[in-house]
Amino acid sequence: IKRIGVLTSGGDAPGMNAAIRAIVLTAAVHNIDVIGFHHGFNGLLEQDYQMLLPQHVQHIIQQGGTLLKSARCKALHTDNGAQQAAAALHSLQLDGLIVIGGDGSFRGTLAIAKYYQGQLIGVPGTIDNDVDGTDYTIGFATAIDTALNAIDKIRDTADAFERIFLVELMGRHSGYITLSAGIAAGAEQIICPEFGTLTEANLQTILTPIQHAQLLRGKSSYIIVVAENSYPGGTTALADALSKALNIECRACILGHIQRGGSPVGADRILATKLGAYAVEQMVNGANLMMAGEVNQQAVLYPLAKTGDKQKQIDPYMVRWQQCIASD
Ligand code: F6P
Repeated sequence: IKRIGVLTSGGDAPGMNAAIRAIVLTAAVHNIDVIGFHHGFNGLLEQDYQMLLPQHVQHIIQQGGTLLKSARCKALHTDNGAQQAAAALHSLQLDGLIVIGGDGSFRGTLAIAKYYQGQLIGVPGTIDNDVDGTDYTIGFATAIDTALNAIDKIRDTADAFERIFLVELMGRHSGYITLSAGIAAGAEQIICPEFGTLTEANLQTILTPIQHAQLLRGKSSYIIVVAENSYPGGTTALADALSKALNIECRACILGHIQRGGSPVGADRILATKLGAYAVEQMVNGANLMMAGEVNQQAVLYPLAKTGDKQKQIDPYMVRWQQCIASD
């Protein structure tokens, strides 16, 4: 292997820069040149790239975002786009491409594989932690920390005003961020897709525990952490419905993209460094169409085609515990 490409794709995640750095430094050890494409797969299609030398990745390990910029690429959903991407890789004489992103980005990578003769490796980078084949994705630990910081602050004002607060967290269709941050923040209730669908018709399931808490325990604040896409009409509509049903002031806070930013925490920097280095080493060893993941602290290869096969399970033990304390 003489020359490889790297790109960051989909929702950016803290630690993507650390992964790019590890890829470039490891490639240098193996005398491999690295090209970094800008704006995800768009940079590949438009041949918008830069050479990445070790001096370009100095002091980026602590930076959030991604040096290469990220984007979603609609063109790659078409066969024509995939062919064009493969042609670009061939014309740049790339022996391989490393894609740092989530399962959507890996689907794009697999589409290119039909037309590309080189090696393709994925590195899981998304705050959502919804990729099968790795215990954690790069960015998840930082997002949890950011969410916790915010929820702890909301607790102060919720306590002072004796209010119910709904805090909406990201995750697209996964409750991983919500369950983890909710548990760590000591939230009174957690609502995420894995707990079943919430509608106006079954609102009582979340009202009953609130009524118990209010009447029996005199709690001064009540925090419900809610995964995005959990309620038709959104979390603000849910807060309104609760206010109406309980006759208590209820506020919604949508945390949003704050969860994607910030300097990566130590765990993300270490994971990103490990997976970036491992991706290059395994490419040198001949790996293709694999994702570099970590399971039980061991770097492992997992077929890219299986990463989005099924919804990654959130911890069933913590789910049971949370449901048990919430209904008490
Ligand atoms: O996949 C990361 C993520 O932040 C999801 O949690 C969220 O649903 C989505 O991206 C938001 O996408 P956008 O930045 O395009 O609004």
